[in-house]
Amino acid sequence: MAKQVWKGSAVFGPLPPALVSCGDGEVKNVLTVAWTGIVNSHPPMTYVSVRPERYSHDIIKRTGEFVINFPTSALAAATDYCGVVSGRKEDKAAKCGLSYEECEKVSAPAIAECPLSLECLVTETKEFGTHTMFLAEIVAVRVDERLIDSKGKLNLQQAGLISYQHGEYFATGGKRGEFGFSVKKKGKAK
Ligand SMILES: Cc1cc2nc3c(=O)[nH]c(=O)nc-3n(C[C@H](O)[C@H](O)[C@H](O)COP(=O)(O)O)c2cc1C
Repeated sequence: MAKQVWKGSAVFGPLPPALVSCGDGEVKNVLTVAWTGIVNSHPPMTYVSVRPERYSHDIIKRTGEFVINFPTSALAAATDYCGVVSGRKEDKAAKCGLSYEECEKVSAPAIAECPLSLECLVTETKEFGTHTMFLAEIVAVRVDERLIDSKGKLNLQQAGLISYQHGEYFATGGKRGEFGFSVKKKGKAK
C-alpha cells in the first residue's frame, strides 16, 4: 500500500463520542468529548481532555468529578448537539430529551438513556495548550441490566454504541473475533 506522510496532527482511529456529564446540586451540564480513553487498569483510570473555554471545563475543575456516558445510535443527534451548543446558552439535556440521574459515588449526574456510564473522580489536572486533561479514577460503573446475561457477563455489543471517526459518526457492529482469538488453540476433534 502506497502511503502519504503528513505532519503530526490529532488524527486517530475510532473513538467513543462520549457524553460527559458534570455538575452538582447547583448546576448540571453535558458536553460531547472524543478525547478520552483508559490509561490504567488497577486502579481503573481514565481522562477527558476539555478546552478551557468550554462551559463544562470550570464545572469539572471546581467539582473534581465527571461522568463518561456512552451513547447508542439512537442518541447520535443528541450527541452531536451536545457537542456544538454550549450549556451556557441552554439546558442541552432537556432540549435533547436526555435525563440526568443520580450517581452512587459522585455528585455529578449520569445520563439515564446511556447504557454504560463511568463515575469519575479527578486525581490530576494537566494543561497541554489547547486542552486541559482531567485524569480521573473510575469509582463506579453503571450498566443497563438488560446487557448482563445470567452468568453476569456484560454483552456490550448489544448496546449499539456509536463510534466517531474523523468527524463522522458510525454504528458499531460486525464481530470479527474476541480477545486472544488469534492465538487460541482449536478444540481437539472428538
Ligand atoms: C464529536 C465531538 C467531539 C468533541 N470532542 C471534544 C473534546 O474532546 N474536548 C473538547 O473540549 N470539546 C470537544 N467537542 C466540542 C464540545 O463538545 C463543544 O464545544 C460543546 O458545545 C461544549 O459544551 P459546553 O460549553 O456546554 O461545555 C466535541 C464535539 C463533538 C461534536
